[in-house]
Amino acid sequence: MARAQGARGLLAAAALLGFLQASSSFEVKDPSGKVCIIADMTVAFSVEYKSNGQKEFAHFFLPQNATVGPQSSCGKDNTSHPLLALDFGAGHSLSLNFSEHGDKYQVEELVFHYNLSDATLFHNSTAGVKKVSHTAAIQAYMGTKYRCISSKQVNMKNVNVTFSNVTLEAYLTNGTFSMNKTECAEDMVSTTAVVPTTPKQTTSQVPTTTSPVPTVSPSNPAVGKYNVTGPNGTCVLAYMGLQLNITYLKKDEKMGLDVLNFIPHNTTSSGRCDNTSAFLNLTFEKTRVIFRFALNASTEKFFLQGVNVSTTLPSEAKVPRFEASNNSMSELRATVGNSYKCSAEENLQVTDKALVNVFNVQIQVFKIDGDKFGAVEECQLDENNMLIPIIVGAALAGLVLIVLIAYLIGRKRSHAGYQTI
Ligand SMILES: *[C@@H]1O[C@H](CO)[C@@H](O)[C@H](O)[C@H]1NC(C)=O
Ligand SMILES: *[C@@H]1O[C@H](CO)[C@@H](O)[C@H](O)[C@H]1NC(C)=O
Ligand SMILES: *[C@@H]1O[C@H](CO)[C@@H](O)[C@H](O)[C@H]1NC(C)=O
Ligand SMILES: *[C@@H]1O[C@H](CO)[C@@H](O)[C@H](O)[C@H]1NC(C)=O
Ligand SMILES: *[C@@H]1O[C@H](CO)[C@@H](O)[C@H](O)[C@H]1NC(C)=O
Ligand SMILES: *[C@@H]1O[C@H](CO)[C@@H](O)[C@H](O)[C@H]1NC(C)=O
Ligand SMILES: *[C@@H]1O[C@H](CO)[C@@H](O)[C@H](O)[C@H]1NC(C)=O
Ligand SMILES: *[C@@H]1O[C@H](CO)[C@@H](O)[C@H](O)[C@H]1NC(C)=O
Ligand SMILES: *[C@@H]1O[C@H](CO)[C@@H](O)[C@H](O)[C@H]1NC(C)=O
Ligand SMILES: *[C@@H]1O[C@H](CO)[C@@H](O)[C@H](O)[C@H]1NC(C)=O
Ligand SMILES: *[C@@H]1O[C@H](CO)[C@@H](O)[C@H](O)[C@H]1NC(C)=O
Ligand SMILES: *[C@@H]1O[C@H](CO)[C@@H](O)[C@H](O)[C@H]1NC(C)=O
Repeated sequence: MARAQGARGLLAAAALLGFLQASSSFEVKDPSGKVCIIADMTVAFSVEYKSNGQKEFAHFFLPQNATVGPQSSCGKDNTSHPLLALDFGAGHSLSLNFSEHGDKYQVEELVFHYNLSDATLFHNSTAGVKKVSHTAAIQAYMGTKYRCISSKQVNMKNVNVTFSNVTLEAYLTNGTFSMNKTECAEDMVSTTAVVPTTPKQTTSQVPTTTSPVPTVSPSNPAVGKYNVTGPNGTCVLAYMGLQLNITYLKKDEKMGLDVLNFIPHNTTSSGRCDNTSAFLNLTFEKTRVIFRFALNASTEKFFLQGVNVSTTLPSEAKVPRFEASNNSMSELRATVGNSYKCSAEENLQVTDKALVNVFNVQIQVFKIDGDKFGAVEECQLDENNMLIPIIVGAALAGLVLIVLIAYLIGRKRSHAGYQTI
């Protein structure tokens, strides 16, 4: 028991050390000197072995003076695969066997040879060289470097190998790491309780999170009522719930998610209008969203053409200010004089990092008679949702009709029956 605890403590210490341990860089070259594999990583080993019949654990790192072994190669077309073999200490070797498949390459096999006779790592052990292997999970797109800051543990019989701070690329054509990278899943957005978008549009609008994540606001924003007055009176009338969803880079290089609901009574609106464009500027605390509407004179329709978002990110963000804008949108479209309405949530994509989600929106721009919404033009999503009750209703009506006909026929029959008596 005490031994197991001690081992765990050591492992924790090793993990801590691993964080401080500088990663080492290794290269494999072909006979002409062209680099085909580069690996920059921290590797920690945990090995269970027997010492005088008792279980012992050895914890150590891939040392920085490990050497790229002679078995390493760039591979020959389809006859042999690229291989990175790292030799260290008294006869230990870690090999990464690469293969390519379609547009991806992967570490097909991870092999670790360790020499239990090495008394510096394995005290009182006499057994010889052992070999363990694993079909590894590391996979990346061709022409990209694999990047994984998070640690990834590979468990084998009696040996655990933990990779961290990994930058790795095989099948290199350019002698250096590619600019583009394949990030491991562990490094991606740390919030796993991300709401799937499809059921949100068709069913209830309350996102269902599988586990509580502080950064994700699970509730829908309250509907605010906003207006802008132009030279000829009200020129923007908008009712909507407003939510921002920003993906940003954190100081630890992981991705963070900032979901922010606008609170209507703490939101100030302003804006201006001219003959062909209208601005609705909404400010909530340190966040501002500017909607720019345009007029399509030929079709007599107004539409949302641009959105500009600026906000302050949580303190863990690498860059505190966030700005995004898109000026070539075509959303929330309706005929001038009518209003656009959508009960379903709409996700307006500003950039790949910024979404503006609007809920229960009703909006009218440019021409607003009597400061009230004109005829409603429902969004497609709502019409699709409406189709279900219509179909159910139609089916029910059909059923009632069949029962009625059956009843009438039955009545006629029994009537006829009485007459024959
Ligand atoms: C590698 O470094 C370790 C210390 O980190 C040292 O004990 C060992 O002798 C070195 N090996 C070689 C081959 O330089
Ligand atoms: C290697 O691939 C080439 C074509 O890419 C093919 O002609 C050849 O037969 C393959 N060789 C082996 C050993 O599979
Ligand atoms: C085992 O190794 C320790 C040092 O790690 C040593 O003090 C001890 O004498 C050794 N025991 C045997 C049985 O070899
Ligand atoms: C490897 O990790 C597993 C669980 O993560 C643990 O149970 C096992 O003891 C570890 N083995 C070694 C050799 O550290
Ligand atoms: C990761 O490795 C790079 C060198 O490749 C090093 O500069 C950086 O400090 C390492 N980060 C951690 C957290 O170990
Ligand atoms: C090779 O890398 C350099 C620097 O990253 C880049 O400027 C160049 O375009 C690359 N060449 C090819 C053929 O990818
Ligand atoms: C990086 O990836 C993007 C998108 O996949 C692509 O458009 C671009 O050409 C890539 N850049 C390089 C240098 O391969
Ligand atoms: C919105 O309308 C109210 C009254 O209808 C008015 O007092 C207010 O100034 C308007 N707001 C803007 C931004 O035009
Ligand atoms: C926020 O944006 C991310 C990335 O685009 C997405 O996966 C997630 O579902 C969005 N969440 C909400 C609540 O809109
Ligand atoms: C909203 O404004 C009220 C005062 O009008 C203030 O007490 C409250 O703290 C504000 N809420 C937020 C979230 O800013
Ligand atoms: C609204 O935003 C637009 C675009 O940035 C700007 O030109 C305009 O001055 C803003 N209006 C108000 C009243 O803040
Ligand atoms: C305001 O009304 C006048 C007269 O109907 C019209 O000429 C002008 O274009 C209108 N201005 C705006 C901004 O709608």
